[in-house]
Amino acid sequence: MSAALPTSSREWHLVARPHGWPKAEDFALREAAVAAPAEGRILVRNKYFSVDPYMRGRMNDVKSYTPPFKLDHPMDGGAVGEVIASNAEGFAVGDHVLHGLGWREIADLPAKHAVKVDPDIAPLSAYLGVLGMPGLTAYAGLFEVASFKEGDAVFVSGAAGAVGSQVGQMAKLKGASRVIGSAGSDEKVKLLTEEYGFDAAFNYKNGPVRDQLKAAAPDGIDVYFDNVGGEHLEAAISSLNVHGRATICGMIAQYNATEPTPGPNNMAMIIGKRLRLQGVLVSDHSDLQQQFVQEVAGWLASGELKFQETKVEGIENGYDAFVGLLRGENTGKMIVSLV
Ligand SMILES: NC(=O)c1ccc[n+]([C@@H]2O[C@H](COP(=O)([O-])OP(=O)(O)OC[C@H]3O[C@@H](n4cnc5c(N)ncnc54)[C@H](OP(=O)(O)O)[C@@H]3O)[C@@H](O)[C@H]2O)c1
Repeated sequence: MSAALPTSSREWHLVARPHGWPKAEDFALREAAVAAPAEGRILVRNKYFSVDPYMRGRMNDVKSYTPPFKLDHPMDGGAVGEVIASNAEGFAVGDHVLHGLGWREIADLPAKHAVKVDPDIAPLSAYLGVLGMPGLTAYAGLFEVASFKEGDAVFVSGAAGAVGSQVGQMAKLKGASRVIGSAGSDEKVKLLTEEYGFDAAFNYKNGPVRDQLKAAAPDGIDVYFDNVGGEHLEAAISSLNVHGRATICGMIAQYNATEPTPGPNNMAMIIGKRLRLQGVLVSDHSDLQQQFVQEVAGWLASGELKFQETKVEGIENGYDAFVGLLRGENTGKMIVSLV
């Protein structure tokens, strides 16, 4: 075991539950003591940690598929880092691991909760994005939940983000007849059509989604991958063709709402068009993990699948990175870099 272990680590705590948009006062960067790892545990110096939209839900004290963050405790989430001390068989100093104790500089965890990753296969941060949880969400949500098939026309919202940018490109790679994306800036829209190969894209801030989608998909859509909810979902229901499918992955337009948000006003169309709307939770799809990594690693190696990351430097900027993600300041995966 190394003699030069750090004695303290900074970590982000939730100190008050946000009402509406999170505020800086709801969070605190605090110092915690670090000790040598106990039996079966490892100490990891985090190099990157993830900020994700689902974390906003964990800041509320409500029953959900993941427990809420505890007040005055460190928040958690995906992270990758380097083992700096090991008291566990199979893990050595210098190994790189993916684990669930982000939002801090040093993580002390049972080795069984860490997965080794290879920095020679992909940059470490990619294990939080294109080769990680968001990538698997895109893959499972499109191919399994939406039952995508060759020739489908696909619409994805949040299309320049971590999940959305992969959904659109994966659909193209598997023979979609047309891929349409929506995003929140003209620059992101340009990226979708010029870099990622989308057939059409629009800025949802430039006009009603329903009109812009109809113009971009004159023959309708067969699959909608929903990252946003609200007006986007309503527009998609209008544009979906008979026997269309929608994967309901996220509803970021309402995560900071303080009042109940209205649902789509055209739900009756689901009947006549025999639509299927189905939620996805990435944690249900670990059976696809191996197939996903194999296929995506191949597309990355051949250059057929592209991805971007927005890296915010320094643990002290963790809160800004999180709120920036909710505001759309990211293109591709939003990551906090500690290197
Ligand atoms: N179900 C699951 O298992 C699962 C797993 C992972 C993620 N998700 C969900 O998938 C969605 C995307 O997640 P991600 O990690 O890939 O995040 P992301 O798309 O990389 O980042 C969030 C993006 O949401 C957009 N946004 C924010 N407010 C919006 C609004 N009012 N209307 C439309 N767009 C808005 C912003 O882009 P613009 O500039 O385009 O506005 C922002 O960049 C989220 O809803 C998330 O909760 C679900």
